[in-house]
Amino acid sequence: MQDQSTNKEKRFYGRRQSRPLKGARADAVEKLLPALSIPKELLTEDASIVPSALFPKNYKELWLEIGFGNGEHLVELMRRHPEHAFLGAEPYINGMANFLKEIAAEPHEHVRVHMDDALMLVNSLPDQCLDGLYILNPDPWHKTRHHKRRIVRRETLTAYHRVLKPGAQLICSTDVPYLADWMITEVMLHGGFEWSAKCADDWRTPPEDWITTAYEVKGAKGAKIMSYMIFERV
Ligand SMILES: C[S@@+](CC[C@H](N)C(=O)[O-])C[C@H]1O[C@@H](n2cnc3c(N)ncnc32)[C@H](O)[C@@H]1O
Repeated sequence: MQDQSTNKEKRFYGRRQSRPLKGARADAVEKLLPALSIPKELLTEDASIVPSALFPKNYKELWLEIGFGNGEHLVELMRRHPEHAFLGAEPYINGMANFLKEIAAEPHEHVRVHMDDALMLVNSLPDQCLDGLYILNPDPWHKTRHHKRRIVRRETLTAYHRVLKPGAQLICSTDVPYLADWMITEVMLHGGFEWSAKCADDWRTPPEDWITTAYEVKGAKGAKIMSYMIFERV
């Protein structure tokens, strides 16, 4: 599949599709993706989306999950919080298909999705519209020359900071210790966030209401250590 982000530069690195879609996943993409996708003409990257106009009614809070993979975490958030609205960005169609299949038979009017680079969506959102942002187990991009592809970096943090409300949470996790160090350093150097951790337990132990994904279980087994980082937008 072509990169649709922009003709000028490649914005998303990673796979967009692996296996061909079949059965319930293909049906879910055909029926739900057009209904739940944020219309392309709104993704103008000039902060002009009116979030309330995306949903059929008003919701107490608006949360975004970037790189939701198969969507397990987002599905559970939607179940736990029917009073909140959710946005999800995931360019990988097989992950999107799993997510849509999972929510097909349950309430889903409170979610909208974007199947491309998350920054296209973030840059299209107005200032201070989000109550929280999840970035869970982002790709580590190990090589130094690929660090500029990381989802948490100085430039993207400026975009996230703009759309988060003061006091809103930026919630990150990773099973890669040096990526945790990188994320903490980038966020602290940005200067627009406060880190809630007071001691090692605060980032080694998940918060009480944490939703564990299959990726986390598999990854944590191999890497033996997970980091959970909760920052507050100042
Ligand atoms: C390692 S997976 C983690 C998936 C999920 N968060 C979890 O914990 O199970 C990273 C995900 O980020 C997505 N991703 C990578 N770059 C992205 C971007 N620019 N915008 C949105 N999602 C992105 C990938 O497609 C992939 O599904």
